[in-house]
Amino acid sequence: MSGLTVELQAPNGRKWAQPTGLFINNEFVPSSTGKTIESIDPATEQTIASVHAASASDIDAAVKAARAALKHPSWKQLPGTDRGILMAKFADLIEQNKETLATIDAWDNGKPYSVALTEDLPETINTIRYYSGWCDKIHGQTIPTSPQKFAYTLRQPIGVVGQIIPWNYPLAMAAWKLGPVLACGNTVVLKSAEQTPLSILKLGELVKEAGFPPGVINFVNGEGREAGAALVQHADVDKVAFTGSTGTAREIMKMAATTLKNITLETGGKSPLLVFDDCDLEQAVRWSHMGIMSNQGQICTATSRILVQKTIYERFIEAFKQQVKDVSKVGDQWDEATYQGPQVTKAQYDRILSYIETGRSEGATVLCGGQKHGDKGFFIQPTVFTDVKDSMRIYQEEIFGPVVTISTFETEDEAVERANNTTYGLGASVFTKDLERAHRVASEIESGMVWVNSSQDCDYRIPFGGVKQSGIGRELGEAGLEAYSQTKAVHVNMGTKL
Ligand code: NAI
Ligand code: MG
Repeated sequence: MSGLTVELQAPNGRKWAQPTGLFINNEFVPSSTGKTIESIDPATEQTIASVHAASASDIDAAVKAARAALKHPSWKQLPGTDRGILMAKFADLIEQNKETLATIDAWDNGKPYSVALTEDLPETINTIRYYSGWCDKIHGQTIPTSPQKFAYTLRQPIGVVGQIIPWNYPLAMAAWKLGPVLACGNTVVLKSAEQTPLSILKLGELVKEAGFPPGVINFVNGEGREAGAALVQHADVDKVAFTGSTGTAREIMKMAATTLKNITLETGGKSPLLVFDDCDLEQAVRWSHMGIMSNQGQICTATSRILVQKTIYERFIEAFKQQVKDVSKVGDQWDEATYQGPQVTKAQYDRILSYIETGRSEGATVLCGGQKHGDKGFFIQPTVFTDVKDSMRIYQEEIFGPVVTISTFETEDEAVERANNTTYGLGASVFTKDLERAHRVASEIESGMVWVNSSQDCDYRIPFGGVKQSGIGRELGEAGLEAYSQTKAVHVNMGTKL
């Protein structure tokens, strides 16, 4: 094996050759500084592999590759239909390698293997496949203006796009960004999260095998402050798309201002889930548990603030506690029975435990959990807080772990007002059998997505994104194309008069 590939075997027995370089121009290359970052298995705290980390000069090389590819006839003049065929092939290759890719994300991120295989991988494949179908359906309009004149519009790619993704759904987040950016004919430098670079590098092999021209898709691993910041600040990057924390998004917006870059941001949340007393209680408990406890609570749209109508509060919390007991089995990624794996890193683990301490010291009651789980690995007990006040930090701030607050309300007006009393606006759930109320509340809630009698539904065909400080722009669906194409108006004068 070359110095840029290691042979790996995961605890589930699966073996593969893992690239560890930077994927630029369809080749794996070492970082110019030789700097590497260790990828850790959060269940055992053992190193999986050391992966090259990009410096500013590596980012420059990747951007140059993307710029050259953008102008190259093999990409620029490729008909949309053929671009769609390339993308469909890419989706097929991901599907053919789905067990290996799911193993990598499970190992590197800590999510249960069965979840990676049956949720993350289909989402990844479906998203790329869906956008492959858009490639030859992106076109402008013809607009008549006067008898002599008309205009037509061209929908053109934005250019070289820098994309920065987080670690909670490595492959799916890559697909959400790669699907529309490629469908619109851009070229891309995508920076994986330094906590979970392995599956993205493995995708690099498939990019090449699918037949994308060199430089169209480049993958770089690296630290946010170094590689991420270099990508955002690069003068030859036309657009930046980011998913991650609101704090980092704020920094990105500032950096992007220097060259007035087009930006799309998908950031944090503290999504409310409202349970009215006319709901199907069993359903409400099932979805509200899943809405915060799945993916180890590491979901931007997690419904982390549950508000229950006072009349059914006692019944709800008893049933919720039972649901945690019955369903939230904590364990490693490979055990079929595991519902909740370890948190992704020591940093996230520490941060969540410190929020749990904050909740205690603020005077909230720990209904269940509230501790680390076991002595090795970044495991945390699913934790439920009751007696929570709206002013508490655990009610206001994104914890990004298996920690939920449950509080009460009396009227619909109060519920909506308190649901909206946040700087965030990503998702929101409402549980009721009253159709009129369901749609009234859905309309009144300040969020990008609303789930009626559900939580966390997400689909490649449906727009996804936030209002307020949860983001700018939309991903997925037809709306996702807006972020990656720009409209040019061409005015045509057919007459001879002025
Ligand atoms: P982060 O927002 O700092 O990292 C996300 C991505 O941004 C990573 O690829 C990182 O390398 C990059 N990045 C970091 N600083 C950057 C900079 N200055 N310039 C350019 N790129 C930069 O999130 P982090 O530190 O991993 O997690 C902290 C908190 O963020 C979590 O506890 C959670 O609350 C939130 N978060 C939200 C996510 C979401 O899906 N909306 C995903 C991950 C984290
Ligand atoms: Mg890891």
